[in-house]
Amino acid sequence: MRSPALLAACCASSALLVAATLAAPPAPSAVKLLYPLAGTVRKPGPVRVLLAAPKGAPMPSAAWDGKPLRLSRMAFDPAWTAPTPLQRTSDLLGDRSAMDLWLAAPVAAAGKHTLQAAGRSLALTVNAAAAKGLALAVAHPKPASATCSGCHTVTQGLLGDAGTPGACAGCHDDAAVQTIHKHVTEPLRRCAMCHDPHEAARPNLLCATKEKLCSRCHALGHSKG
Ligand code: HEC
Ligand code: HEC
Ligand code: HEC
Ligand code: HEC
Repeated sequence: MRSPALLAACCASSALLVAATLAAPPAPSAVKLLYPLAGTVRKPGPVRVLLAAPKGAPMPSAAWDGKPLRLSRMAFDPAWTAPTPLQRTSDLLGDRSAMDLWLAAPVAAAGKHTLQAAGRSLALTVNAAAAKGLALAVAHPKPASATCSGCHTVTQGLLGDAGTPGACAGCHDDAAVQTIHKHVTEPLRRCAMCHDPHEAARPNLLCATKEKLCSRCHALGHSKG
């Protein structure tokens, strides 16, 4: 830690410039809302809010039930160069190396809540069970999901990859994966092709319908799905 005096001395000359360039939060259109998923019901408890904004930009504005939400920044590890098989997030993020992540976990009691972020207003219903017309969003069970390092490499606070099946194998070994899926395991190694381990609005953390997932490799009507 540098002392305040040292900081003041070294930064005084650039303070004005810093204030001018860092004052405004990024434009809402430059911010991506990764989680929570829209139009879902979730169980009472912490709600994972995950935004991405241009690298180096100040905290994007976000509000939970009308009150400003304090987000903490997490940068991507530049060593994470492998493409992610998580289609939805990679489509949203684009070039990961140009983004920072912003996290919060407001605790939600049963009832209706709103999240304003990335120029959107998201209505979230918190309830013990699914409501009419709304899917129940589920997260991966703890302890794996308690921290990002449950699956990702986290080095000096930088989020690195969660290469599968390695990130999962400690708990879901080959034999278990084989039993669960009743499928040759080799083509299933990229778990995030079908599962979103962060949150999903389908049972078994599936990111799409089975038809869609299986038809990537199998002609429809010819698989056991
Ligand atoms: C239960 C396992 C698991 C946990 C816990 C987890 N992740 Fe992930 N995450 C994955 C997997 C698997 C991928 C996709 C595989 C990969 O690309 O390495 C992924 C990919 C991502 C991506 C997508 C990056 C891209 O380029 O598309 C982001 C962003 C992300 N995780 C953020 C987080 C953050 C932040 C946390 C902690 C709050 C977290 N994850 C916790 C498993 C997990
Ligand atoms: C620290 C151990 C641990 C790690 C690491 C882990 N899991 Fe899990 N996972 C569990 C436990 C425990 C359950 C609940 C029992 C079960 O279904 O096997 C679970 C459940 C699941 C489920 C079912 C969820 C549901 O809704 O029923 C999926 C899908 C899953 N894990 C995928 C993954 C993937 C993909 C990874 C790697 C990116 C991963 N897990 C990493 C322990 C872990
Ligand atoms: C091709 C899509 C696909 C891939 C890839 C895939 N899964 Fe699954 N997984 C499913 C489906 C579909 C289910 C629901 C069970 C079923 O209908 O077969 C499931 C269920 C699960 C469950 C829940 C089992 C239970 O009954 O609680 C776990 C855990 C799981 N998968 C882990 C993994 C892991 C770990 C990987 C990577 C090694 C993986 N899956 C790769 C499609 C996939
Ligand atoms: C990443 C590609 C891929 C995905 C996605 C995939 N499979 Fe497969 N599947 C394969 C491969 C490769 C084989 C082995 C093919 C062979 O030996 O003929 C196979 C074999 C099978 C078989 C045995 C086929 C046979 O002719 O004996 C069934 C049944 C099957 N898959 C069902 C599914 C279902 C259901 C899903 C969705 C949950 C799915 N597969 C998703 C690649 C995939």
